[in-house]
This record gives sequence, C-alpha cells and structure tokens, in this order.
Amino acid sequence: MYKIKNVYAREVIDSRWNPTVEVELTLDNGVKWIAICPSWASTWIHEALELRDWDSTRFLWKGTLKAVNNVNTTIKENVVWKSFESYRQLDKYLIELDWTKNKSNFWANAILPVSMAFVDACSKAENKEIFEYVWEWKWYILPYPMMNIINGWSHADNNVDIQEFMIVPVWATSIKEAIRMWAEVFHNLKKILSAKWLATSVWDEWGYAPNLWSNEEAIQIILEAIKKAWYTTDQIKLALDCASSEFYKDGKYDLAGEWKVLDYKQLVDFYADLVEKYPIISIEDGMAEDDFAGWKLLEEKLWKKIMTVWDDLFVTNIERLQMWIEWDLANSILIKLNQIGTVSETIDAVDLATKNDMRSIISHRSWETEDTFIADLAVAKNTWFIKTGSLSRTDRIAKYNRLIRIEDMLWDKAKYGR
Ligand code: PGA
Ligand code: ZN
Repeated sequence: MYKIKNVYAREVIDSRWNPTVEVELTLDNGVKWIAICPSWASTWIHEALELRDWDSTRFLWKGTLKAVNNVNTTIKENVVWKSFESYRQLDKYLIELDWTKNKSNFWANAILPVSMAFVDACSKAENKEIFEYVWEWKWYILPYPMMNIINGWSHADNNVDIQEFMIVPVWATSIKEAIRMWAEVFHNLKKILSAKWLATSVWDEWGYAPNLWSNEEAIQIILEAIKKAWYTTDQIKLALDCASSEFYKDGKYDLAGEWKVLDYKQLVDFYADLVEKYPIISIEDGMAEDDFAGWKLLEEKLWKKIMTVWDDLFVTNIERLQMWIEWDLANSILIKLNQIGTVSETIDAVDLATKNDMRSIISHRSWETEDTFIADLAVAKNTWFIKTGSLSRTDRIAKYNRLIRIEDMLWDKAKYGR
C-alpha cells in the first residue's frame, strides 16, 4: 500500500524540440520519481488523445500547459494523501476519474506520466528494479531489438515512402552484442551513403534519411552495409514499418517516391515480392488502418512467412484487439503506452496478445525523451521485441543502455532472444 504525498507536473522538451509533460511523484515515505510522456509525428485516428494548448504564441501551437494543469489541479487534488494497493488500482482510479472512453477529460499525456511515475516510485520504495516490480520471473528473456537505420515519410524530409527500415540482429548472443552489430552496420551505412553523395543527416528516430530512387533501394543499401560490416543475412534480418495509412488516399496507396499508385492487391504483391527477395521478418502497418480487405489479403499471403504487425488499427487498445482478433488480420502487435494511457492497460494488451499467440513489440514514439520505462516494460513482460529507434541520439540510446545494464544486472537469469 503506497500513499501519494505529491504529484507535480511541468513542461519539458522532447527529442523534436516540442514540449511534453513530465510528472514528479512523491510517496509519503519520501521516495520520489520522475516519468515523461512521449509524443508522435504520424496521425492515427484511433489513439487515446493527447492534449495540446493550440495557443499560437507558444511552441507553434504545441504547448502542453493545459495537460500540465490537469495534473497539477484535478488529478493532484484527487490522488494526494490517498493510498493505493498497486499501480493497477491507481490506474483504475484515474480511468474512473477521467470517465471518458478515450481519456479526453484529462487526456493521455496527463494520465500516463502519473501512471508511470507511480510504478517507478513504488519499485524504488520496494528496493526493486522497475522490471522486477512489474513482473518477477525466475528467468527473463531479453527482447530482440528492431533497430531503426533508414527513415522515410512523416519521420523525415526525403522521398522514401516507407517510414522505417530496421535491422534485427537475431544471431547475437546478448543485447550488448546486438547493439554492437547495429553500430557497426550504421558506421558502414554512412560510408556507403557518403560515397554515393547521399545525405547522412538523421531524422525523427535518428536513422539516415537520404533521397533514393525507390524503397527497394533503401533495402539494398542496408544489405550492402550489413555485408560491409562483415555480417550475413542469417545474422541480421530486416523489419519494415510501412505506416501505410500515411500514404493511403481515396482507397489507393500513393507511393509518391516511386511515382506509383497501387490498389491493395498491388501493394500486397509489392510486399510479397520484397519478402521473396530480401531477409524481411516483419512488416508493420502494411495496410492502412481501416483497409480490412487489404489486411485480409496481406495476412493470407504472408502470415506464414513474416510477422504482420498491427499498430494503427489496434493502438494498444484491448477492446479493439478483442474485436479484431477473431478476424485474424495480423499475427503481431505494436505496444505503445501513450496510445492507451496507463501502464496496466498496456500490460493487459500484451497479455491478451500473448494469450492469442500474437507476438508483442514494445515501442517508443517518434518524439521521445530520456525516459527508459519501455526498456523495463519489455523485459518485465518478456516480449519478443523492442522497437526503440536508432542509436544515434541520446533519447534512443538511453533505452538501449538501460537494456545493457539490465542484462548485466540479471546476468545468468537472462537470455537474449528466442
Ligand atoms: P509514431 O511512429 O510514434 O510517429 O506513431 C512510431 C511507429 O509508427 O511505430
Ligand atoms: Zn508504426
């Protein structure tokens, strides 16, 4: 049982120099912890809502003082000097206090950092690591990282349509080794891009974002870098987040970078061809969020060969997952805390997916902070994968370094990958 002494929210800055909400939560035993809410660039219909101030005089409309105020007034008045048996009980209380279906009373960017900070503070009060406090296992399986390497579409300013090209070091024997492999490939990728006079600036999730002739060229350049780093495609696999809702217009998929407009059947053929030719193990959001015919066909054609991953359609929402599971439209899901707004609902989503033989990928957002909660969450829930960007800026590195530390801490109680 933990009693909350104080919650205090403030505006801090995220990795894309926009403001976000940070919450400092103090328990009555003096233990204090800070949690920060991430944000995102892409626009999805079904997510829990984040509140922006829409005041043109601050941060180009993107201020978060209203969300900060929700924490510092109503939420604070209701939780301070109250005791909660568990984070689950606090989350339930916050959900009831908000009383809307999509958290549009306090909004997800006010509720989530309170929920996370409470988990953090309780774990500290119990003298446990966050992952141990969330779930204590005899053995832990550390997740394969899906590591961003080239960015496109709304995560960059180049002409590449697919949003994220990632590499997955499946052959590594530890997280440390997986991370080293990524770093070596990334250095080599830079050399290749420079030699071709292509841009080596990094974007949102901090992979490179060169202009290319096609999406396939991005894959080919990555394979070249893998080879140049002396690895094989048995050791390092590829994963894509197509974020195809972003280029879905009037029922068609507009691959502007390739001057192609495809219907859903042609897009599925396009993916099937890539999967045939390249070592791709996962395609996220291959189809747009409400293109059910497209999802059905993609699943029919590719579910045995790769992971078909839901992000936009499911948005970490257990009710939506329950609704869509029987349709059998994907075999894996992306898990993002701020899409649903509390830690316990996020955990319920992972559990429901696991119960239905779906693989979970704990994910960052495109606009991140130094908060490393997702690294602990992935370890606590023994998820198959974690997706937390490239290694080239501290907002992402912080999560990878936390995984390295957890691996050391667990020592022989942990094993990397399946
Ligand atoms: P987002 O991107 O945070 O902009 O939604 C991450 C993803 O699409 O998986
Ligand atoms: Zn996505």
